Amino acid sequence: MCGIVGAVSKDKNILSILITGLKNLEYRGYDSAGVAYLKNNKINIIKSIGKVSKLENKIVKNDKSNIGIAHTRWATHGKATSVNAHPHRVKHITIVHNGIIENYEEIKEMLKNNNYSFKSSTDTEVGCALLNYYYEKFYDVDKTIKAFMDKVIGSYAITMIIDNDLDNLYVLKKESPLVIGISDNTNIVASDIRAILKYTNKYYILNDFEYAKVSADEVIIKSIKGEILNKELHTLDLKDNDNSKGHYKHYMLKEIMEQKTTILKTVLPFIEEGIDSLMTLPDLTKYKEISIVGCGTAYHAGLVAKYLFEEVTNTRCSVYLASEYRYQNNFLSKDTLTIFISQSGETADTIAALKLVKSKDCPTLGIINVENSTISYLVDTCLYTKAGSEIAVASTKAYTAQISLLSILVLSHGLRNKTISKDKAIDIIDEFKSIEKLITPLLNNKDMYLSIAKKIYKEEDIFYIGRGLDYYLSMEGALKLKEISYIHSESYAAGELKHGTISLIKKNTPVIASATNSNLNAKTISNLKEVLARGAVIYLICDDNYKDDTFTIINIPKVSDFIKPILVIIPYQLIAYYTALLKGNDIDKPKNLAKSVTVE
Ligand code: AGP
Repeated sequence: MCGIVGAVSKDKNILSILITGLKNLEYRGYDSAGVAYLKNNKINIIKSIGKVSKLENKIVKNDKSNIGIAHTRWATHGKATSVNAHPHRVKHITIVHNGIIENYEEIKEMLKNNNYSFKSSTDTEVGCALLNYYYEKFYDVDKTIKAFMDKVIGSYAITMIIDNDLDNLYVLKKESPLVIGISDNTNIVASDIRAILKYTNKYYILNDFEYAKVSADEVIIKSIKGEILNKELHTLDLKDNDNSKGHYKHYMLKEIMEQKTTILKTVLPFIEEGIDSLMTLPDLTKYKEISIVGCGTAYHAGLVAKYLFEEVTNTRCSVYLASEYRYQNNFLSKDTLTIFISQSGETADTIAALKLVKSKDCPTLGIINVENSTISYLVDTCLYTKAGSEIAVASTKAYTAQISLLSILVLSHGLRNKTISKDKAIDIIDEFKSIEKLITPLLNNKDMYLSIAKKIYKEEDIFYIGRGLDYYLSMEGALKLKEISYIHSESYAAGELKHGTISLIKKNTPVIASATNSNLNAKTISNLKEVLARGAVIYLICDDNYKDDTFTIINIPKVSDFIKPILVIIPYQLIAYYTALLKGNDIDKPKNLAKSVTVE
């Protein structure tokens, strides 16, 4: 998604801050970039298609400036062209913007009737012109911003420079994230504090309909009514946000390996003192049903929780894709708890679904990885995963942290509604406490994953299948592979293949499966035999000592259903990683993808 950086300084050359910040936001995904900065008393704008390094090469080496804004754009309205790239400038106003102005066409028509013309096809240029329109009407920034906020429908994080006010940046925010970093004689605006940790870990967070005047040594934050707000200055814990790759070739591999510690770190507060710690989790017995909402990997984590809620605690649980949730009957009720899962806490589809539930005054809970993110503020109760910064677009350690925290939540619920005995709960707690010992052999089995990757990386179609929990895990396995290897990989319920899709199986089609449910394994194996008979090559993860010379088998230890998903998904993560590595893809920043999808 788009990334924003703005800086104003008394004594620093802010250009290096802008470029460094953009490079630290690259993980969000983008296709063009640009900067606007004060040079010889004029606003100088430079834009480029492609990587930030290309933009950097266009900037005159010894250019110096004390105020500027910068942007990485993930194209929504209008192709990835220089004209559409940000910053946009209209008369007195220059801005960068993250979000979508939904009523931009109506506003554009109004502005055209007031003699405005437009060069780009972006909603952002319209927003910039609207700010200029109100600025020329009032010549008062507070009135300008209030009028803009009253007029615009949609989402925005905007950083603005006004021509005759060149000691200040102005920032305004609704739904898209924006923070203001504070350092000596230099203040820095960014979409994510992690982009500017080189300069500061102290920051203010803007909430919806708040705006700020940011100078080199002062930040004044106001509400849409113009009241000055006394905001909390947050400090990001640096030890949990090491944004370096360390000795790893890719962030994704580093983050897969970090699961040795991130899983236990996430659940430890709730299992450290055994059952007593579990009881500190929210009591779900007052709800008749559980709904879960998320996107992509977060949605897949919800499915694992569904399996456990329903099969272990006999609690009905529905899981919804956030992008679909608002457009269907979801039987909202005060007796239903809706859980929102999101690594970034900024996913627009998930935020929109959450706002719908809140509008009906129904209870919400968040499973979120980024502290002080939008969703973390909006939910009634927020439980944080402790995966640390996840930079790679393909989610790995956040997923296992999500399913672990959800599993512990189900475990506490099962104790409360007496579907799980204390002895069983203690056994599962012990399993979680030994998770590093359980997953290390799987993490270290590189030769196995590389040998599988060598056999599949030139294939065009790959199928992941399973039954029950294994089916839900096959969805995450297929997503991991497709999003970084660009191979078409699809998840299928093992029993469903023969109802049509089996027609796609041809000689050497890889079929990757997990069979970890003793009640279902025989059926899964027979489904695998069906595709084997039609030429498929089988790779099977299983937790018993099943032997079959016609399959490539990855054995995992027998554990409870609370831990099993973690052990199955690690081979899937690493098969995807090594397959993409052999293809030479940009593993951490796959094409077309963004780490945080902040537009619907
Ligand atoms: C995960 O590998 C994907 N990159 C993507 O599906 C992601 O899970 C989805 O966009 C949801 O993001 P969130 O968890 O930050 O809300």
